[in-house]
Amino acid sequence: MIALGSDHAGFELKEIIKQFLEAKNEEYTDFGSFDAMPVDYPIFSAKAARAVADGSCDKGILCCGTGIGVSIAANKVDGIRAACCNDEFTAKAARTHNDANILCLGARVISAELAVSLTDIFLYTAAAESERHLRRIKLIEDIEKGVF
Ligand code: RB5
Repeated sequence: MIALGSDHAGFELKEIIKQFLEAKNEEYTDFGSFDAMPVDYPIFSAKAARAVADGSCDKGILCCGTGIGVSIAANKVDGIRAACCNDEFTAKAARTHNDANILCLGARVISAELAVSLTDIFLYTAAAESERHLRRIKLIEDIEKGVF
């Protein structure tokens, strides 16, 4: 189950991502926004991020103008590793190095075609497995726990 969220700037791209998910037979929950009326991205980012953090969704995809606002907001939720990616290298590394559980896309930055390609990579690239990457991910969790 994929959690989707956007603001007005990312709304249209989110609709395109939905078509891609449907073609791949992937289930999704759309946390809005549901049209192109101006809204505040942290609200929709938080709803989708909490669904990933509580396990009701497996991963998330968030869209705004730059991908930055939704990623900053999502990363405030414990357990979220949201990555704003603008190219295929970083989309792949977000999974293999960081076990990112949310992909953030900038509708005003990248083409819809590239956004779909990054979604494909994000969904179907296995998570980090090596000891060094797992150690670093655990250290991120330690930050959330106030260990350092
Ligand atoms: C909305 O104008 C824009 O600020 C928002 O979509 C996003 O790019 C913020 O980071």
